[in-house]
Amino acid sequence: MTDGLLRHDLEWLPSAPGEPPARRRQSDAWLERWLDTCNDLARLRATNPMLDAVIDEIDGRRIRIGDHWLSDFASCNYLGFDLEPEIIASIIEPVLKWGTHPSWSRLLGSPVLYEQIESELTDLLGAPDTLLLPTITHIHMSVIPVLAGGGTIFLDRRAHKTIYDGTKIASSNGARVQRYEHDDLGHLEELLKAAPGGSRLICMDGVNSMTGNAPDLHAFAELARDHDALLYVDDAHGFGVIGERTADEPCDWGSRGNSIVRHMGETYDNVILIGGFSKAYSSLLAFIALPTRVKNVLKIAAPPYLYSGPSPVASLATAMAGLEVNALRGDEIRADLHAKTKRVLDRMGELDLATPNTSGFPIIEIPVGDPDRIDEVGRFLFDRGIYVTLAAFPLVPRHEVGFRIQVTAANTDEDIDLLLTVLEEAVDRFDLAGVYGERAPSAAQV
Ligand SMILES: Cc1ncc(COP(=O)(O)O)c(C=O)c1O
Repeated sequence: MTDGLLRHDLEWLPSAPGEPPARRRQSDAWLERWLDTCNDLARLRATNPMLDAVIDEIDGRRIRIGDHWLSDFASCNYLGFDLEPEIIASIIEPVLKWGTHPSWSRLLGSPVLYEQIESELTDLLGAPDTLLLPTITHIHMSVIPVLAGGGTIFLDRRAHKTIYDGTKIASSNGARVQRYEHDDLGHLEELLKAAPGGSRLICMDGVNSMTGNAPDLHAFAELARDHDALLYVDDAHGFGVIGERTADEPCDWGSRGNSIVRHMGETYDNVILIGGFSKAYSSLLAFIALPTRVKNVLKIAAPPYLYSGPSPVASLATAMAGLEVNALRGDEIRADLHAKTKRVLDRMGELDLATPNTSGFPIIEIPVGDPDRIDEVGRFLFDRGIYVTLAAFPLVPRHEVGFRIQVTAANTDEDIDLLLTVLEEAVDRFDLAGVYGERAPSAAQV
């Protein structure tokens, strides 16, 4: 790839004084690599209607782009709290009281709403304590470097990009980063055994944002404790969806939506849990579940606590109201979401439409086999009124290039009828039956 779309788009980049742009770009080996890696995505962004769209209007989980209405299966608002009337109504009073945005960094001072949410959340998670910051991205960039110090980070090869970026900052501060094969306890153990002294931080996802599967957290936490390491888990997609197992749970996702640690019956010993409100709770806010002494360190060592603007008051209000709705009706909503997701997965099974999802959680990726067909498949889904996330390389490994369906409680039965009809047509048209199982190379080849 020499004259790809992305390269063309980047021609505005300034060059060093006196240096022509073409020469500067030639000399930037890292930029060359980056351009090559991202060109599929750049081409899709520029040409496919399913990426970088301007959405004109929504009606429930239907969206309008120009004059074309689609059923939205790209939303992470799993519980449908973005559309819940009592959560929407909760915004006005706090905004009248606090204004739209206090703008103090948290170190200067925080509206009492923060303390109320932290206390509710600590209770819900059964964690020692919690700390709120605006986004998970802020947390990874600032907390991973503090926890890693000058020690070793063990990074799951498929950890979310924002975790990976956090480890890059840690490494520029002196930490050593070692990557282990995705979800591979044996490989992680080998690396832990061979690691030098000093702090050890294992970084990985909870419910994976592409496969929809969760790691065996119990086994990873035991390994961490055996090797005096800290297990750092990002459960952005599990919080609000999966929770503690109880005798009267409405479905096998568990009760209360209190995330992967409780779902797997684990403790917070040597475990730091990261989660966010920006998916299931539809609010711009994120948290770290951690011991109070670590919270106090982060209050002076994590830059977003010291310098960043806080979450908008509207988001604090909807997070708080979301916790109340979760306590009152969350399990009922999750049971409904579970049934809708099961309907999709069961029909996919009948159609022999393969997916990496073995968990039954509401993230369902469908690989298309040939990465070059993703553009065509995306256009087909768009034309038929189905909006999904296109999973192009490098968002997923090449053999998993495809599209991701996310089911939310706000998707109606009619949305799902349409999805299933369109998938039925797609299987034959794009020869999708059995793709993941048949054509996936082994992990070692990826
Ligand atoms: C696993 C995971 N972590 C982190 C993020 C980023 O979260 P935030 O928007 O809170 O920064 C995402 C968003 O897609 C995600 O899927």
